[in-house]
Amino acid sequence: MTTGALEQTVPAAAGHLPARPMLIAGRWCGAVAGEMLVVENPGRRQPICTVPRARAEDVNRAVEAAAQAFPGWSRVPARDRGRLLLRIADQLEVRQEELARLIAEETGNALRTQARGEAKFVVDAFRYFGGLASELRGTTLPLGKDMLSYTRREPIGVVGAIVPWNAPAQLASLKIAPAVCAGNTIVLKAAEDAPVAVLMIAGVCQDHLPPGVLNVVTGYGAECGAPLAEHPLVRKLSFTGSTAVGKSIMRAASDRLAPVSLELGGKSPSIVFPDANEAWAVDGIVASMRFTRQSQSCTAGSRLFLHRSIFDAFLERLVAQTDKLVIGDPLEESTDIGSIINAKQFSKVCGYVQDGLDRKEARLVMGGLPPSEGPLTKGYYARPTIFADMSNDWRLAREEIFGPVLVAIPWEDEAAVIRMANDSHYGLAAYVWSRDIGQALRTAHEVEAGWVQVNQGGGQMLGQSYGGVKQSGIGREMSLEGMLDSFTETKTVNVNLAVPPPETRH
Ligand code: NAI
Ligand code: MG
Repeated sequence: MTTGALEQTVPAAAGHLPARPMLIAGRWCGAVAGEMLVVENPGRRQPICTVPRARAEDVNRAVEAAAQAFPGWSRVPARDRGRLLLRIADQLEVRQEELARLIAEETGNALRTQARGEAKFVVDAFRYFGGLASELRGTTLPLGKDMLSYTRREPIGVVGAIVPWNAPAQLASLKIAPAVCAGNTIVLKAAEDAPVAVLMIAGVCQDHLPPGVLNVVTGYGAECGAPLAEHPLVRKLSFTGSTAVGKSIMRAASDRLAPVSLELGGKSPSIVFPDANEAWAVDGIVASMRFTRQSQSCTAGSRLFLHRSIFDAFLERLVAQTDKLVIGDPLEESTDIGSIINAKQFSKVCGYVQDGLDRKEARLVMGGLPPSEGPLTKGYYARPTIFADMSNDWRLAREEIFGPVLVAIPWEDEAAVIRMANDSHYGLAAYVWSRDIGQALRTAHEVEAGWVQVNQGGGQMLGQSYGGVKQSGIGREMSLEGMLDSFTETKTVNVNLAVPPPETRH
């Protein structure tokens, strides 16, 4: 294996910490200004390493490298591009456990319940899109015997991609693999809190791709993400993160009419009918709430609508089931729930919990503020917390908390619960729980969301077009159609087949 380049260091500003360089034009490098930022293990509040703190001048270098690589890469036959992605998948598979450990260490997501699954997903993503390369096909139109009209799926150019920290490797691979497969080149900005696994993936890609096809820059949102979004040579923006930043990306893109894909926040409803007061549904709610990822998930089913007839009984079972989950160091095999990503998110989550405690209409069903002493104070550990409340109208039921805080709300009338479920500016995911399939599907069709799961609470699957409605985003990724719609342009070519014979000149 030849990924040793990743272990090269650049002059470290932060003393003894290893310095991980970023990837521009096929070379591992630091920021032009020499600045670094520190990456922390949130489960232990310990620094792990430094990465370059890139700014506009670094972004500019990366975009220019991608622009230079584009003509050559776009002309590589699609199937050959796909073959390179398949090789990347094979090599990532060999290093899957190493990747999982890097993810767990920098995100605080538990190795056993989260990070291993994410590393496997990364391998699958490269393999899935590598296999789709031959499907970048056009169409022909039956416009008559004298007309040939056909379409080509052409790559767009330089893609600017920005990813968050909650599933950093998975989200990065879901941008790199389809963009590169379709013949684009890419500049990906990793999240400042979790760039290490992404840099490792970049190292494996770099063993197989021509220089400049994939560039990864590290840095803060305003200093590094914003210049990428605003760069005139970036022809397409693909962003996953908060709704507020998503709007700023779209504003930046509007200046030059660059297309955007935005995968933003959510406040996803989970609607439980009386006949689902059973253990499998309880397990499903635990999964859909993503408690084992500290609920730092855009698809967390964080508004739980329980039918009034089962309200207390279901909550009792849910508490018993959730209580079994072990909170602890992300790298321990015994751990189910790891730590929140950083101090800022931790205090934000605590603020929401305090709000719930302060509200007299809300009843604390389990959890509460984090412990103030003991081993869990070594990292940013939050406790799964459930509030019961009559209303869908208060802050905890409306805002994306991005932490393990669930609000349970009773309902009686089917039309009323659908109204409550849809009374949100978000529309990413939704969950419906019922043995009555007609009732379940009627509800699934009524809910305003890009993705509805019936009687299951699992994660996204490759091949499904994934994305949100309303302020949860624009565009779909993760599928063949997602690759075609998000990372190619359709060109139509019309050919007149009835050009008369050459005129004879005398
Ligand atoms: P964020 O949206 O600020 O960060 C996501 C990515 O965007 C990071 O790479 C960041 O550096 C970059 N970024 C930030 N500001 C930018 C700007 N002005 N221009 C370009 N790029 C920029 O999310 P953050 O601050 O980490 O978390 C705040 C909240 O956002 C969370 O509490 C959660 O509610 C939401 N969020 C939602 C995610 C999702 O998957 N839907 C993922 C991460 C956060
Ligand atoms: Mg931010």
